Amino acid sequence: MKIAPSLLSCDFSVMGEEIRRMDKAGADWMHLDVMDGHFVPNITFGAPVIKHIRKYTEKPFDIHLMISEPLRYIDDFAAAGADIITFHVECDSDIEATIAKIKSHGLKAGLVLKPATPASAVLPYIDELDLVLVMTVEPGFGGQSFMADMMPKVRELKSEREKRGLSLLIEADGGIGEATIAQTAEAGVDVCVAGTAVFKAENPARAIAGLKELCE
Ligand code: DX5
Ligand code: ZN
Repeated sequence: MKIAPSLLSCDFSVMGEEIRRMDKAGADWMHLDVMDGHFVPNITFGAPVIKHIRKYTEKPFDIHLMISEPLRYIDDFAAAGADIITFHVECDSDIEATIAKIKSHGLKAGLVLKPATPASAVLPYIDELDLVLVMTVEPGFGGQSFMADMMPKVRELKSEREKRGLSLLIEADGGIGEATIAQTAEAGVDVCVAGTAVFKAENPARAIAGLKELCE
């Protein structure tokens, strides 16, 4: 299992240091939650901030766009140093054009599903995707409770991947910690986002190692 700490739970006054801390703790990817106050009822940060924190690690930047019009901003996030860009299938941009735009920069592209959106919503695009992110909370805030009833969606995506012989990764995001991560591994998740569980831990290195062990 790969672990992607969500910087949403970090101390924003020292974001660079927080990234360095997660890098040393053994994070696989850095998960960056971009919110526009329109697609979700919260506002975080955008490409200018990401550009400045990029130099604190060599690990992949996994950018989760919770914004209404991702297509308008893909060039900015690519220039800021994204490696993976995921955006919501429920957004207002043209989905195919947005995937193509991400790939035109040589980046990995993923679609995200809100809890109420079925797996079938991403199937028309699945051959083009490097990743599908299944939300296990309503997007917008850290520290919410894990929705175990999203695991059938993960299984569905996994079987679709096998049926089509694809290599896309399945990521899960929201409420993942010691008490819940085993379920995600069992369902077939490859990458887990963890905000609270890692940032609020006394020893993040031990927290990340512990999460990985629970998946074995
Ligand atoms: C929620 C974000 C998540 C969130 C996860 O909208 O997409 O990445 O920060 O935080 P925890 O792990 O605390 O649920
Ligand atoms: Zn996220």
